[in-house]
Amino acid sequence: MADMETVEKIAKMRGFIYPSSEIYGGLSGFYDFGHLGFKLKNNIENFWREFFVNSENIFEISTRTIVPEAVWEASGHLKDFVDPITQCQKCKTMFRADDLIEERTGNFVEGLDIKELTKIIKEKKLKCPKCKGNLGEVKIFNLMLKTSVGPVEGNVAYLRPETAQGIFTNFSFIARSTRSKLPFGVAQVGISYRNEISPRQWIIRLREFNQMEIEMFVNPKKINECLEFSGIAKEKLRIVTREDQKKKGKITEITAEDAVKRGIIPNKWVAYFLAKEMIWYQRLGIPFEALRHRHMLPEETPHYSKGNFDLEIKFDFGWKETVGNAYRTDYDLFSHSKKSGKDMSILDENEKVTPHVIEPSFGIERTVYGILLHCFVDDKKRGWSWFRFPPKIAPYIIAVFPLVNKDGLDKKAEEIYKNLKKDFDIFYDNSGSIGRRYARADEIGTPFAITIDYDTKEDDTVTIRYRDTAKQERIKVKDLKSFISSKLE
Ligand code: GAP
Repeated sequence: MADMETVEKIAKMRGFIYPSSEIYGGLSGFYDFGHLGFKLKNNIENFWREFFVNSENIFEISTRTIVPEAVWEASGHLKDFVDPITQCQKCKTMFRADDLIEERTGNFVEGLDIKELTKIIKEKKLKCPKCKGNLGEVKIFNLMLKTSVGPVEGNVAYLRPETAQGIFTNFSFIARSTRSKLPFGVAQVGISYRNEISPRQWIIRLREFNQMEIEMFVNPKKINECLEFSGIAKEKLRIVTREDQKKKGKITEITAEDAVKRGIIPNKWVAYFLAKEMIWYQRLGIPFEALRHRHMLPEETPHYSKGNFDLEIKFDFGWKETVGNAYRTDYDLFSHSKKSGKDMSILDENEKVTPHVIEPSFGIERTVYGILLHCFVDDKKRGWSWFRFPPKIAPYIIAVFPLVNKDGLDKKAEEIYKNLKKDFDIFYDNSGSIGRRYARADEIGTPFAITIDYDTKEDDTVTIRYRDTAKQERIKVKDLKSFISSKLE
């Protein structure tokens, strides 16, 4: 496996991701997607829609990123969306107290209160990692970015730290306008903001990032009535149960069906999403062994959840949450109903119910890093490194090259290029040797390259080269469209 430093450097050099506002020194926790990164991200989002949204009774919406304070009071974020901080008394640098203690002592301290954290810092004589100064009392820091709307003072709002609340506040509109019956889901893809104390690890912990979330609304009495479950029942999951976490490295491999039967997963809806995530991430190019679901310990479970299973990816630096799966129950709808005075219930077979919510929440940037890392091939034999992106998400599916820019080969190549471009994301390259052009196509993860040569004029075939094997064969020009379509299925 490559390391973050290598992948970050290459991603910047090749136009995937670079620091935001870098000409002014950048801003910590903010990164921009370049043209290839943007295409990769769009393809991931569209594949996610195809795989999770379009196949179910799920509606996608788009709500605002600036949200009034009342919403965050009701959701509990104003009070509970906090991290503990400690400040160096000498150089004034702020640190996330729990991270600092865990890194220095190796002890897991998530869930401890600020007094307990302060005590550990004192007892263990922990100092500032930068200047060795004394660390101050641990305090609470709210992670939401605050703003004020319009010229009127006191009109406080927050940049959303999750897309989910826009779904909950719209719940009644959506239910009414779609005339949906339970169970149904609402999805949202968009930006979230968190004023992280110490953004780090490139695009792993950011202050602005993208999420893809689904809130699945279910009658609590029918939590195990999931019609789609039979389709994934035999799917293998890799679960780190709470029990497993007492033994380092233990993972329980079990089918979705058995995990529900044995009570490892609380209900069929949760199991359904966990199984689909395992399939989807493997289709993105991340191996089965580099995926697992960890049952969060009670002390780390978010304030709104009755139980969380994090999909974790094995990165070069260790396992890291990439999808949070929460059983949010009726926590959010109930809280908004109480605060706003609006009824958030729905009729299900003539009975009024406040639905329970199952929420898979995907982080796009962590997914992108997982793909870049696991698809990276440091190919000493070829002499260049490249990305083994699955065709479905590769920024470009095919590269078109004329062997030479003369004798009508360039004209023919342009004609083929223009014809394919109507339907697919492809690019044209006519500069440098063919070898160099193959290298450039590989470097940005293009699965196929076609070369128009002198034989093309004779028999209307082109050479197709496969990125993964570097093997070449002839293919008829008229078959190119169906060939590419089959690779995208
Ligand atoms: N609505 C539930 C929710 O937001 P979460 O576990 O806090 O749950 C979901 O976040 C996902 O969003 C995470 O698994 C992660 O992939 C991504 N994410 C969260 N904070 C992030 C950050 N600071 N930088 C990058 N991605 C982040």
